[in-house]
Amino acid sequence: MKLYSYSSLLGRRLVKCERNLKYCLSPSLSSSKTNTTSIAAFASSSEFNGVPISVVGADSSWSSPICRDSPVSGSMEQVMVEYLFGRKKATEVAHYVWKHVVQKGDAVVDATCGNGYDTLALLKLVADKTQRGQVYGMDVQKIAIESTSSLLDQFASPDEKELVELFVMSHSQMEDIVPNDVAVRLVAFNLGYLPGGDKKIITRSETTLLALEAAKRILTPGGLISIVTYVGHPGGREEFEKIEEFASRLPVESWNCCRLQVLNRPLAPMLIFLFKR
Ligand SMILES: C[S@@+](CC[C@H](N)C(=O)[O-])C[C@H]1O[C@@H](n2cnc3c(N)ncnc32)[C@H](O)[C@@H]1O
Repeated sequence: MKLYSYSSLLGRRLVKCERNLKYCLSPSLSSSKTNTTSIAAFASSSEFNGVPISVVGADSSWSSPICRDSPVSGSMEQVMVEYLFGRKKATEVAHYVWKHVVQKGDAVVDATCGNGYDTLALLKLVADKTQRGQVYGMDVQKIAIESTSSLLDQFASPDEKELVELFVMSHSQMEDIVPNDVAVRLVAFNLGYLPGGDKKIITRSETTLLALEAAKRILTPGGLISIVTYVGHPGGREEFEKIEEFASRLPVESWNCCRLQVLNRPLAPMLIFLFKR
């Protein structure tokens, strides 16, 4: 993982600054000190002891297993049946779908790092001995990037961590950090607020739409935009409706857009997949 200064981003690639801090700070945050207390608090709540641990989602309605090798095992068929019976959560289904799109050595984007579980899942999908994979992760909150960094410290190897670049920035600017010549296979959005964090800091439909436009541009054919969207918090339904509108307008010749939801749990997270043909 690398520490970058977002201020030096615009116009040129970033400079690696410090070995033990592994994320990029936006100009407004770059002078503030790393909150080690919050990292420690988070780390102690996610200890790994050879068995999966549970991770709670933004609306507290889902949990996800985590494991050192690959957080995604089993078959797509199994996970869909489990989802059908209410035993798998939306984010777990998303991780399985990613497995069918992402290959070792791919470049992927986590547009909302949060506590890092999606970043870690993506890293496990792209990383192999060739060190070709690349994960670009971002979040507007420094504490989220710290949590992500801490999670990767625990569950990713030093070689795997080398493939990750983390940025404190809005996903609407993702094109600033992904080089033009990189073919991105997947852009993952897990919207809403940071679980365990400030519930007032949420993704907003205007920036989400800008980010989706950017994701559309950087995605390679055969790539996927994966969105987990929540309607239980203020602004969530509006954001979901805007995304649905956006997805419905994409031309069918080049995009296949799907939604997955639990009908009798109106506040359950919804999954939206935009597949670029
Ligand atoms: C539900 S959490 C993400 C969960 C995360 N993917 C995980 O695996 O733990 C949503 C995150 O989106 C972040 N966020 C809000 N607005 C954003 C923006 N414009 N750009 C990037 N991240 C944003 C929040 O700070 C929050 O951490």
